[in-house]
Amino acid sequence: MSATINLENKHFPVLLDEIIKIISPRYSGTFLDCTFGQGGYSEKILENPNNKIIAFDRDINAIRLSELFKKKFEERFKFYHKKFSEIKDLETKNFKAIIFDLGYSTNQIFDEKKGLSFNFKGKLNMKMGLNSFSAHDVVNKLEKDELVKIFKYFGDEKDARKISQLIVKKREQNLLSTNDLVELINKAKKNYNYKKNKSTKIFQSLRIFVNQEVSELIYGLINAYRILPINSFIIVITFHSLEDKIVKFFFKNYSEDKNGSRYLPGLKNKNKFFELTKKKPIIPSYEEIKQNPPSRSAKLRYAKKISDGANFDEFLLKFKDLLEVEKIGNKLCQKKYLF
Ligand SMILES: C[S@@+](CC[C@H](N)C(=O)[O-])C[C@H]1O[C@@H](n2cnc3c(N)ncnc32)[C@H](O)[C@@H]1O
Repeated sequence: MSATINLENKHFPVLLDEIIKIISPRYSGTFLDCTFGQGGYSEKILENPNNKIIAFDRDINAIRLSELFKKKFEERFKFYHKKFSEIKDLETKNFKAIIFDLGYSTNQIFDEKKGLSFNFKGKLNMKMGLNSFSAHDVVNKLEKDELVKIFKYFGDEKDARKISQLIVKKREQNLLSTNDLVELINKAKKNYNYKKNKSTKIFQSLRIFVNQEVSELIYGLINAYRILPINSFIIVITFHSLEDKIVKFFFKNYSEDKNGSRYLPGLKNKNKFFELTKKKPIIPSYEEIKQNPPSRSAKLRYAKKISDGANFDEFLLKFKDLLEVEKIGNKLCQKKYLF
C-alpha cells in the first residue's frame, strides 16, 4: 500500500515489529485499530489474508486513505470517522486485540492549519478532529484560574500562574495568536535554561485540553475492556508521562489480586481482570530511534483480559482531578460531552 499511495509526510509506524510479535500467536482474526492515522499498523496486519481490521480515527484527513484501504482490502477493512471513546457502540466484538497508538501522526504535526506546533505562526487551533472548541477559544476566553489549572495539570508547568496572568493582560489589547503566545512564554521564562523549548509544556497542555485526551484515553480503555473477549489483548503506545501514568495504573491495578489471600487460595484471582506478561514498558531500539527520532518517547504496554466484571470506580477516582479539569471545556462547547 505505501508503495502505491504517495503520502506526504509519511508516518513511521512506531514499534511495529513489537506489536506484530505480540499479536502473531493469535494471528488470524479481527483487530481493532483505534488510531488508524496513516494506516501503518492496519496495513501490516492486513498482509495476512485471514485478518480483518476495524479502524477508527477522529481526523477527517484519515478518510481519504481509508477509502483506498477499502478498495484494496474490500470487506476485510472497515473505517469509522469517530473518536475511540465511542468503540462501545460497535456490533463486532470478537477482536483478537485492540490497539491504541496515541499522539499525532507526522502529517498532523506538519499541517500548518492544525497549528499543533509552536514553530508555526498564525491562529491557534490544535484540533485533531471532531472537536468542540480550539486552542484559540481556550487562550482567549477562559478565566485566568482555569488556564492555570490546564497548564499545571496537563503540562506540569511551574510558571503556570505567571503565564496565565500575562495571557489575560495581553488579550485585553488583541486576541492572541500562536506567535503572541510563544513571545509571551519567552518573556515569562527569561532565566530559563533547559534543553526543551520554553513553549513545550504550555503547548502540550493546550493540545491535551483541546482534544480532551485524558477523557478519551480513560473511556477508550474502559470501553476496550468491556467489548474485548477473554484471552484477547489491549495494546497501548503512549508518548508522554501523563498518558503512560494512566495506562500503567489501568493495567497494574486491574491485574493485581488485592484481596487474594495465601490462606484462602479459593479467593485467588477473584479481582484479577488482566494478565501482564511484562511489567516494564517496551521501548524502541536504538536503531528505531535513529531512523525515526520522534519514536524516542514511545512506551508500549499491553495486557491480556482474563475475566469479565471489572468495576472502574477506582480508576475514575484516581484520575478525577484531571477529568474535572477537562470538564472546564464544557463552557466552550456548543455540544455537551456525552460522558
Ligand atoms: C500516532 S497516530 C497513529 C499512527 C498509526 N498507527 C500509523 O501507523 O499510521 C495517532 C492517530 O490517532 C488519531 N487519534 C488520536 N486520538 C484519537 C481519538 N480519541 N479517537 C480517534 N482517533 C484518535 C489521530 O488523529 C492520529 O491520526
